[in-house]
Amino acid sequence: MKKTAVVTGGAGFVGSWLCDRLISDGLRVICIDNLITGNIRNIEHLFGNPDFLFLNHDVTNFIHVPGEVDYILHFASPASPLDYLQYPIQTMKVGSLGTHKALGLAKEKKATFLLASTSEIYGDPLIHPQTEDYWGNVNTVGPRGVYDEAKRFAESLTMAYNRYHGVQTRIARIFNTYGPRMRLNDGRALPAFISQALTGQPLTVFGDGSQTRSFCYVDDLVEGLLRLLRSDESNPVNLGNPEEITIKQFAEEVLELTGSNSVLEYMELPEDDPKVRQPDITRAGKILGWAPKVDRRDGVLKTIEYFKEQLSLSTVS
Ligand SMILES: NC(=O)c1ccc[n+]([C@@H]2O[C@H](COP(=O)([O-])OP(=O)(O)OC[C@H]3O[C@@H](n4cnc5c(N)ncnc54)[C@H](O)[C@@H]3O)[C@@H](O)[C@H]2O)c1
Repeated sequence: MKKTAVVTGGAGFVGSWLCDRLISDGLRVICIDNLITGNIRNIEHLFGNPDFLFLNHDVTNFIHVPGEVDYILHFASPASPLDYLQYPIQTMKVGSLGTHKALGLAKEKKATFLLASTSEIYGDPLIHPQTEDYWGNVNTVGPRGVYDEAKRFAESLTMAYNRYHGVQTRIARIFNTYGPRMRLNDGRALPAFISQALTGQPLTVFGDGSQTRSFCYVDDLVEGLLRLLRSDESNPVNLGNPEEITIKQFAEEVLELTGSNSVLEYMELPEDDPKVRQPDITRAGKILGWAPKVDRRDGVLKTIEYFKEQLSLSTVS
């Protein structure tokens, strides 16, 4: 009997790679998505596969899935700053009501539940790099609060189901991840820089570009997520690439790797933009034997190839 995994948000960037990996590991996958920020193109290669089922459903409503379920990977949520500023209420609802429904399904099916949490729960961090025992520095009423607080609530609810109902739970605190299937216009720095470089537009650097980010290639993240799912660790685990780079250096790297002649254009720093962001992945190393392997330049080159295809498709259509 094959094991069954439910992936909420499975038509999104990370969720679709998870669906692919779970299928290739020999599981049945039920992908649930309402396509608010996802794209059916990310999963259409799986249609017709007898081990894959897609349900177009908003997980803030009751989730019904027939038969046994072994794993629930809860990835549904707008995730880029542009998306959660455009959908603030939906973001809070999916983090709260959606997590409640997904945990309810885990309880009913006696399934192991994995929450896609985020480094954003650390807010604009006062310690650097961020370890899991840091409680964070979040502005509840700032524009990013809808996402950060929804995920903080989701973590607390997950621990409540673990402690009160005995549900097997895992919490992955995911740091910036990138790769093919990101949307060119999702507002995150990496897709913005690459699409601007490929189309000859100026690369928009916020502030003076000295703020730092650490980018993890999606294959590395998926490997870490599956190791966490199969572990027995219910405390939060950071997953990300600790190699830090300033946004300005990264913009210059994108120019070099795309061979673009675009220039850098400096714009005002958005409110509550974190100045530093770097995971401490000691716990993931100890518990999961995990560390990212993909070199940033290699990962960025693969992503550039994907974006080139997307741009040529949009020119054709
Ligand atoms: N990509 C990253 O760098 C990153 C970092 C930290 C955390 N995460 C988390 O990982 C998850 C996936 O992020 P992503 O980058 O793939 O974003 P994404 O927007 O590509 O994917 C999210 C998916 O969730 C779906 N969705 C949203 N609300 C829903 C609802 N109510 N019902 C059903 N489906 C719904 C969207 O349609 C989309 O397909 C999110 O929970 C996000 O918070 C991602």
